[in-house]
Order: sequence, then structure tokens, then C-alpha cells
Amino acid sequence: MTSHGRLPPEFEPSPFARAIEAKRGAGRGILDLTVANPTRVGLPRAAGLEAALRGADLLHYDPDPRGTEAARRAVAAYHRARGTSASEPDRILLTSSTSEAYAHLFRLLCDPGDEVLVPRPSYPLFEPLARLESVGLASYRLRYDEGWRVDLESVEALVGPRTRAVVVVQPNNPTGSCLDAGEAAALESLCAERGLALIADEVFGDFPWPPRDAPLPSLLGDRGVLTFGLNGISKLCGLPQMKLGWIAVTGPEPMAARAYEGLEWIADLFLSVGAPAQAMLPWVLERRDTFHRAALARIHENLRTLVAGSDRAGYDLLRGDGGWSAVLRFLPGSPAGDAPDAAVWALEEEDVLLHPGHFYELEDHDAVLSLIAEPERVHDGIERLSGAKRS
Ligand SMILES: Cc1ncc(COP(=O)(O)O)c(C=O)c1O
Repeated sequence: MTSHGRLPPEFEPSPFARAIEAKRGAGRGILDLTVANPTRVGLPRAAGLEAALRGADLLHYDPDPRGTEAARRAVAAYHRARGTSASEPDRILLTSSTSEAYAHLFRLLCDPGDEVLVPRPSYPLFEPLARLESVGLASYRLRYDEGWRVDLESVEALVGPRTRAVVVVQPNNPTGSCLDAGEAAALESLCAERGLALIADEVFGDFPWPPRDAPLPSLLGDRGVLTFGLNGISKLCGLPQMKLGWIAVTGPEPMAARAYEGLEWIADLFLSVGAPAQAMLPWVLERRDTFHRAALARIHENLRTLVAGSDRAGYDLLRGDGGWSAVLRFLPGSPAGDAPDAAVWALEEEDVLLHPGHFYELEDHDAVLSLIAEPERVHDGIERLSGAKRS
């Protein structure tokens, strides 16, 4: 027997996943523009990682639910270098992933049946992560008009007696949008008035468009509300296999101290972050430049390809501020735009794999692709969507 509420009612693959399998089974090569695994796209990572790992002290185990002091200091130094004030090692807690960070925060902030507000469109993992913790979700809207803006009225209208937190993803996956200063201030005062925490997922915060050294805005800082900043080395250093992320806690005392103690208590039950990953964190963060610069250059090149191909392939490249994904809005009159679902059309007709808009609660004529895919692949994909191969 399995639980009735926490798991999905069935584990069947979606029709879209079945269509991909059918194509592959029929021996059709698919041009996959969704590949976002940084270990699979030919991007360099810090040289010498394997040798450094061999040289690390891996035989001792000295568990600390917060993470080792050296590792937390390295995160604090990263925050300092980035200009965010969350630079106290005693307010940083390591996790084995951002997903685990969300689970810890839902457990910390919510009783079963409490609610968290999340943006829509956004990251599809919120729903199952919250359901697994018996936490409800309500979605506030991001609206597109020459750029994505938060519908602040929809946020306010959603806050009820059981709302505990507001999640902000910036840059958001997949829209690439960040809050502007007015939106950040409005959300902060709403959270302060209603006693809500802010959860800021900033895993893409070092990948601005166009590429530049100045990082994107962060919600971490001297704010009047309890704020949890989520980040990790999956994206920052291109190392998802190291399984290491963190939560930085900021906000008024003693609330922040109390929240940190709660997180520490939860983390102590699992001690889930491997000692080798923690031992490597200072080394890896110090050398993040290699991957970071290469990824920024690639994102830039792919954005140029997408801009250049938009007229021929009949889409608008929606505006964003940063991140690893782009939204193509296919226009009426284009084959993909006139089809019931643009990504299904691209897969069926051109063997090009894009994420369907509905994965993220976007429109059916929207499709999402990865900006860290190899540039030749993105170029070839856009050529196919333009019909260049058909004429
Ligand atoms: C918005 C967002 N947060 C978190 C993650 C996952 O990060 P991690 O590998 O640390 O779980 C992703 C992965 O795509 C993401 O898009």
C-alpha cells in the first residue's frame, strides 16, 4: 500500500514522454534542445578536480548537521564576493540539493495543510515536493508584457490564514525573470505585514543576460523579513553530481536564529551531505570561474542564435534577465504556432525536442529550451524549426 495523498495517483509516463520513447524506438535521431545537465554539454569544469578529490582527507567523519565550518566559511566568502550580506557561516546550512532545501523549509515553516505561494509559470518540482510534505501550494501569476512582471494583486489575494511563505525564483526557471526593485519591496512588505517568510531560489543568480560580471539582484540581505536564500554548486560550478547546496538565513533576530536552529535540528535527522563533497567545497568555489565564464559565453552565443532565427522560425524570444532556459512563443501563422502544442509539433514534424510550455504552466504555443546546450545543436534545431531542412 502507498499513501493516498503524498504520491501521484499513477506513475505512468506522460503522453509526451511516450512520444519521445516511440521516436527513439523507431530509430529516429532526436535533436534534444532541452539538455541542461552541465556535465553533458562539453563545458569545462575546474581543472584538477579529480586530483584534488584524491588528495582530500576522506577518511575522517566528524558530522555537523550544519555542514563543516570550512565549507560554510567558503559559502560565506562567496556571498561576500557577490555583495550579498548573508556572509555569516553561522547562518548557512548545507543541504544535498536545492530540492532537499525546499523539503527542509516546508518542514520548518509548515504544518500539514499549511500553504506556500509559488510563482506561475515556474519550476515543476514545487508541486510534488510540497505534496510529499503535505503542504498546499497556491500560484501567483507572472504576466508577460515586454518582460515578466509579478501580478502583485494576485499575490495579496492568495494570502490566507494558513499561508506561511512566498517562494521567489530569480532568475526564474524557465522565464529568466527577476523581481524589479518595486516588486521586491512590495513582496517584502507583504511578508512583513502578514508574518510570512520569503524563500529565494537564486541558483541561476550568477548567469545574467547579457553576460556581465555584475551579479543579478538577490533577496538576501538586511531585510525586515525572515528570508531563506537557496543556492548550490549544481549550477554555480556545473557540478550537480557533487550533490551540494545550501540555505542562507537572514532577517530579524531572534527569528533568524530560531529558524536556523530548527533547520539544524531537521538536518541532524538526515546528515545527508557527504563528507567528500563538503571537503571539496572551498576548492570548488574558489575555482568556479572556469565553468562560469564558459557557461556565460555559451548562453550568450545561444541567445544570439535564437534572436537571429526568430523571424524565420516564427517565434518571439521572450525577454528575461538571466538563467539557463529560454521561452520561445510561437506565433500564429507559423506551423508550430498554429499547432495545438508547439513542442509536440516540433517533436513530431522535425524531431526537435523542446519542453512543452505546459510543463511550466506556460501556454501551449510556448516551448522551452536549454541555453547551455551545445551551440551547434541549438543552431541546427532552429534551422529545422525554420523549415530549412524541408525546402
Ligand atoms: C529553479 C531551480 N531550483 C533548483 C534546481 C535544482 O538544483 P539542485 O541540483 O541543487 O537540486 C533547479 C534545477 O533545474 C532549478 O531550475
